[in-house]
Amino acid sequence: KVYRASTTAPVNIAVIKYWGKRDPKLNLPTNSSLSVTLSQSDLRTHTTASCSPKFTYEDSLLLNGSPQDVSGARTQACFRELRALRKKIEAENPSIPPLSTYPLNIVSENNFPTAAGLASSAAGFAALVRAIADLYELPSSPTELSRIARQGSGSACRSLFGGYVGWEMGSAVDGSDSVAYEVAPASHWPNMRALILVVSAAKKGVSSTTGMQTTVATSALFPARANEVVPRRMKEMEKAIAAKDFETFGKVTMRDSNGFHATCLDTEPPIFYMNDVSRAAIRIVEGINNAAGKTIAAYTFDAGPNAVIYYLEENEKAVAGLFKAMLGAKEGWGGNRGVAVPVNDE
Ligand code: DP6
Repeated sequence: KVYRASTTAPVNIAVIKYWGKRDPKLNLPTNSSLSVTLSQSDLRTHTTASCSPKFTYEDSLLLNGSPQDVSGARTQACFRELRALRKKIEAENPSIPPLSTYPLNIVSENNFPTAAGLASSAAGFAALVRAIADLYELPSSPTELSRIARQGSGSACRSLFGGYVGWEMGSAVDGSDSVAYEVAPASHWPNMRALILVVSAAKKGVSSTTGMQTTVATSALFPARANEVVPRRMKEMEKAIAAKDFETFGKVTMRDSNGFHATCLDTEPPIFYMNDVSRAAIRIVEGINNAAGKTIAAYTFDAGPNAVIYYLEENEKAVAGLFKAMLGAKEGWGGNRGVAVPVNDE
């Protein structure tokens, strides 16, 4: 018999960035962060987890058809935590099948090109953890699953919730309180949209894992960001979301993206994630907001040149329409293309 469970997890894009680890093994961050979970239909990972006493091979993972190495510490940590939870249930119920002892076979597909340079690890680890939890019939809450997914990739913990999601940095040494939480469901502010501009499909130069560790070790700007600036912005952002105040939401989003990229430039050797097209996108957003006389569009950039532009549906023409005209962005994927997606309610 083969036991099987499938699930999907969406991509999330941070408006207050996670950048820095206080514990690289457990992926414990140096600051809390906040993100918006994007629509499942446009950007998500679909994952099937199966296990069987008949599987003769070891644990395996296939991503978009190609075999991945599962021996890495991050994947192993997720497997180990989930197996331990299943083992506890098996010990209490000796009549259920010992799934925790069977090899795991994971098959994942992204419905967007992994090469697009979008943070796929967030959706990837969130889907992997939930698929195995479903396979093992674990009674775990999204909060508990977020604690496990965090060990796969920090940002993945936020993809276990829909809508507006925070990741509390926590203070416990074992990471037990470093988990994601719902700030507001998508239905609270349903007209939020994200336009993703694929500026470059090339793989990023410096991975986030390496980049953030070098920043923590060398940037003089970093301590102020982690200890003063971000804690203040987290409060401002939560208030802005509660009040559906796009002006503040947008301003804080852009400032935090710029502040994060400033610490990257302040890293030794410096890290450059944005390029000329990224900077052109910033100018376009400034032009849109100046013409509107208020903030109706907000840009943010992760560890790469691709822009994500947040705006409200009523400003679709003024924001997404203009971008598509100016950058030649079309619906779909590829160089210089954009896709406008609504926020997802899990
Ligand atoms: C810039 O979650 O990819 O996207 O924990 O090392 O896997 P690891 O890092 P990762 O870093 C994401 C960094 C970011 C900001 C964010 O998503 O908050």
